[in-house]
Amino acid sequence: MSKITISLVKADVGSTPGHHMVHPKQVEKAREMLSEAVKGELIIDFYVFHCGDDLELLMTHRMGENNPEVHGLAWNVFKTVTEEVSKPLKLYAAGQDLLSDSFSGNVKGLGPGIAEMEFTERRSEPIIAFAADKTEPGAFNLPLYRIFADPLTCAGLVIDPSMHRGFTFRVLDLKEDKHVDLKCPEEMYDLVSLIGTTNRYVVERVYRTLDSMIACVASTTKLSLIAGKYVGKDDPCMLVRCQHGLPAVGEVLTPFGFPHLVSGFMRGSHIGPLMPVGLKDAKCTLFDGPPRVVALGFTLTEGRLIGLNGSEPADLFEDVAFDHARRTANLITDYIRRHGEFMPARLGPEDMEYTTLPQILERLHPRFKPHS
Ligand code: F6R
Ligand code: MG
Ligand code: MG
Repeated sequence: MSKITISLVKADVGSTPGHHMVHPKQVEKAREMLSEAVKGELIIDFYVFHCGDDLELLMTHRMGENNPEVHGLAWNVFKTVTEEVSKPLKLYAAGQDLLSDSFSGNVKGLGPGIAEMEFTERRSEPIIAFAADKTEPGAFNLPLYRIFADPLTCAGLVIDPSMHRGFTFRVLDLKEDKHVDLKCPEEMYDLVSLIGTTNRYVVERVYRTLDSMIACVASTTKLSLIAGKYVGKDDPCMLVRCQHGLPAVGEVLTPFGFPHLVSGFMRGSHIGPLMPVGLKDAKCTLFDGPPRVVALGFTLTEGRLIGLNGSEPADLFEDVAFDHARRTANLITDYIRRHGEFMPARLGPEDMEYTTLPQILERLHPRFKPHS
């Protein structure tokens, strides 16, 4: 039985109004194209959804990671949606995340974000697809630490024999484009030291140390590093395999019950709480936020994405158990926004995606006098 690959590819190719939400016609066009790809037997199954202004394509296939045909399909979907829907409807920032005119075999480095992993499907393969809007890849660092390294969050680390050896985190240095593998619990303090620096070090993959089984993969695109300037936030996505020797669905969701502070929010230049929401609330409003995250649960069955109600997934954060996190996130939003443009509510100058500071400094330069 050949291995299954699951690919979650996302891009902001325009939204309405402003950077608020993907238009239903964009989703419809993407579904139509992916249905054709199922008929043509390139992919086995798919689910198209959105988180805020990001169009998310979840696909399963047997073509392996970094396959040019599968990446080409995702690229064509984003291009076609841009040309046939976003531009004619004059949606805002049409084609924003497509940073190149030509496709060269892999979407990595061209703008879209991707989380992709290949594995042998287990007897039952529960999987959660996460997608966040108005934030950056480092937003998943804290929850990933809690899921795979914190014994106070993930009971399995303590009481499940196959998890007791812990997990190995692959951490990417976004600035140097290098990675390091760190084993937890042995190297936990080194891990926290790196991934606490959320704007530079991001968790890209997590393996079960016992047998190197892949457990999680997250997107790590940094658009500003690709384009050399701000072109939109790198709203991340990730895939997590669950249960039977991996963290249970409930252990994977638990850290999101704490709406931790992330970078992003208005103009990608502020901090705000990451609010866990159901698909119906996956849209940013107040101060272009607060940043949102959705979690969609499936069971993979020979590559088919089995959800609830036909192909609809379990919309895991829609549950009342996350009401408290949402209330807390609203309180935090209110508190933080009262700071206006004062740090730390506004990011430091090096992390701001928009800034007028250089022009202001240049203009004021002649007026600065030696002090004392
Ligand atoms: C954040 C984001 C929005 C925009 C903001 C201003 O990632 O996409 O908050 O930065 O709406 O957008 P422009 O400059 O396009 O008017
Ligand atoms: Mg946008
Ligand atoms: Mg977005």
